Amino acid sequence: MSEAEVPQSTETADDTPTSAVPRHVAIIMDGNGRWAAAHGLPRVEGHRRGVEVLRRTIRAAGEIGIKIITIFSFSSENWSRPAAEVGELMGLLRRFIRNDLAELHRSGVRVRIIGERAGLAADIGRLLVEAEELTKDNTGLTLVVAFNYGARQEIARAARRIAEDVAQGRLKPADVTIDSVGGYLDTADLPDPDLIIRTSGEQRLSNFLLWQSAYSELVFVPVNWPDFDRAVFEGAIREYQQRERRFCGLAAKTAPTTPVKTGS
Ligand code: IPE
Ligand code: IPE
Ligand code: MG
Repeated sequence: MSEAEVPQSTETADDTPTSAVPRHVAIIMDGNGRWAAAHGLPRVEGHRRGVEVLRRTIRAAGEIGIKIITIFSFSSENWSRPAAEVGELMGLLRRFIRNDLAELHRSGVRVRIIGERAGLAADIGRLLVEAEELTKDNTGLTLVVAFNYGARQEIARAARRIAEDVAQGRLKPADVTIDSVGGYLDTADLPDPDLIIRTSGEQRLSNFLLWQSAYSELVFVPVNWPDFDRAVFEGAIREYQQRERRFCGLAAKTAPTTPVKTGS
């Protein structure tokens, strides 16, 4: 479909999106290995091609009018893959940040990383901090990279910090609420995803954004990530636009997206 067929985002004075373009889209980029196998190539070729597709997708997201895009790049469970594949994936992340950070910064993209930092190679830890620091004042698209991310681990980490704050008298048990818990998660201050897209035809979340996806619309597309393109992206957004979001009430509404403050 043509670009013009996806309604573009328009904004009111209070910065509330008024069109049906999802404000926050999260993507589970899956199927690199199957794409490679189908082309008689080693799995790493699927991952390499996947990085190119990611670049194009980030550009498309900004053009479509999406404000926040979250991508699942490496899960807490992906360490269980063969060491050689894990090494390739780490190398691709290093190269992505080294090669693309300056361009992302020039385009006004704000980078945010979610996931566990402890235990990562020191140089990767430094690259993640550099990406966030360099771009923190940018006001364009927010790119959230879920790296070494698992939602259960994120929730457990938040629970640990809440327990510490209660033990230290900084937080009262009665103040442990949906909003304050949200503020302890890695995604503190980010609105929940309106739309989660998973490629490759698998229909599961695989430990991605379990708290934040409570009311997200889920769209599963049958193409492997290396074949994801603008037409498939816009098709997923059109499917989202046909859904009626009810949030357990009776009438369709826009998302309750009040930013939450950290409780510590
Ligand atoms: C997604 O593709 C990339 C990562 C999980 C890092 P996969 O590597 O999971 O590809 P399939 O699912 O084996 O095809
Ligand atoms: C989820 O995909 C993780 C990422 C896309 C980074 P996986 O391919 O690792 O998940 P499963 O094994 O299909 O659940
Ligand atoms: Mg997979």
